[in-house]
Amino acid sequence: MSVSPFGIQLAYVVSAALFIYGLKLLGSAATARRGNTISAAGMLLAIVAALLDQGIVEYQWIFAGFIVGGAIGASASRLVQMTAMPEMVALFNGFGGLASLLVGAAAISGDAGVFTLVTIVLSILIGGVTFTGSLVAYGKLSEKISSAAVQFSGQQMVNSVIIFAIFVSGWLFCLYPETPFWLILMIALSLAFGIMAVIPIGGADMPVVISLLNSYSGLAACAAGFAINNNILIVAGSLVGASGIILTQIMCKAMNRSLSNVLFSGFAAVSDEESVVEGEIKPISAEDAYYILEAATSVAIIPGYGMAVAQAQHVVKELTELLEKNGAEVNFGIHPVAGRMPGHMNVLLAEADVPYDQLLEMDDINPRMETVDVAIVIGANDVVNPAARDVESSPIYGMPVINVDQARTVFVLKRSMASGFAGIENPLFYKDNTRMLFGDAKESIGSLVRELGNS
Ligand code: TAP
Repeated sequence: MSVSPFGIQLAYVVSAALFIYGLKLLGSAATARRGNTISAAGMLLAIVAALLDQGIVEYQWIFAGFIVGGAIGASASRLVQMTAMPEMVALFNGFGGLASLLVGAAAISGDAGVFTLVTIVLSILIGGVTFTGSLVAYGKLSEKISSAAVQFSGQQMVNSVIIFAIFVSGWLFCLYPETPFWLILMIALSLAFGIMAVIPIGGADMPVVISLLNSYSGLAACAAGFAINNNILIVAGSLVGASGIILTQIMCKAMNRSLSNVLFSGFAAVSDEESVVEGEIKPISAEDAYYILEAATSVAIIPGYGMAVAQAQHVVKELTELLEKNGAEVNFGIHPVAGRMPGHMNVLLAEADVPYDQLLEMDDINPRMETVDVAIVIGANDVVNPAARDVESSPIYGMPVINVDQARTVFVLKRSMASGFAGIENPLFYKDNTRMLFGDAKESIGSLVRELGNS
């Protein structure tokens, strides 16, 4: 089937419009699913147009790839746990990088001009770094390899030598594109640099690294688009590159850290020896907590990473319904970096069918906190740490937090006095108005649900 070049370019423009509209819809939890479907439809249109554009004849390979890839994707979407999503995204980015590397390598031809050769070099370099960097990030997050930051003396020097060698091999490749040695060396060095760049970063910082690698995978695709002169690949790559870097910035800002701090130093390594916490821990039983909750007319629930670990979202939804039945107004306070990936809490609560309009962002719930009778902190720690606001010597000083300590009573649901991701003390646990409800979050909330249900 032959389609005119105008028809192909028109299809690309429509695809690009669908990507951008889809991205816009992804900005809100209520429209995100629709945004995903619209973007996917745009991608299908782009692929069909690209196939017709290139005059592909061997469709059986494309069909085989479609079946195998579709089967892997469909089973992964069913089998992968929500808490394993960051690892899954790391793998996706890695394969995106590898695809760009292969496209770049396949675009090499004897009559390629300087511009094309430079874009081939970029797609191979960025694609290679993204591929191995993402595999290391996947290994660290899934604990298939040690998640500790691997640092050794002379590391900076080794990295500088690799970067220098990458530039030299890229330059020599542009001069002698028909000599396979420079291509192979360039690929090997970029793969090595991906590993070297990610091993010094601790597992807990991997989500930020993954969104950065996501941005790289977009840049690699964009370079590959220039290499094969495909407009929609350039547009799609730029969108991924830009949105990845915006997300990286949002995450860094919400943690009050610079990107260089994430990439070159461990968060948990910072000492908080100077912080002196006053007051004493006041544990409470589910039964006693019930009496306070029963009298509450306004309740704020602040979920964190522990809710994801305990998979407590469904029982949290039950608690919400019982509290509302009892006459209380219930809202959720969502911190932008609660959990371990962007939107982690939104995804979990959406899975439990908690209505979107009950989810308030940090800036919306904080002004109401003084009027809240009970704030229930479910497996959150750093994102409710008042030291970020009050203690200048704290490593997280300046990070915006949800001010649960301003509520009349605070229940903190966690299993022990262990610290959170940042590895620091939390003065909230010692405040006069705080009660600690120790135990697995799912079990503790289950007990509250039973008490409220029986009342
Ligand atoms: P954290 O500060 O990590 O605290 C989680 C708490 O959950 C822990 O103190 C833990 O205490 C408790 N917990 C774990 N399992 C539990 C269970 N089964 N039942 C009850 N409690 C449980 O979590 P957060 O407040 O959500 O903060 C997130 C942190 O991750 C921030 O420091 C943020 O900067 C960082 N981070 C986030 C992201 C994104 S994008 N979300 C990316 C990178 C880094 P026990 O062990 O005592 O139970």
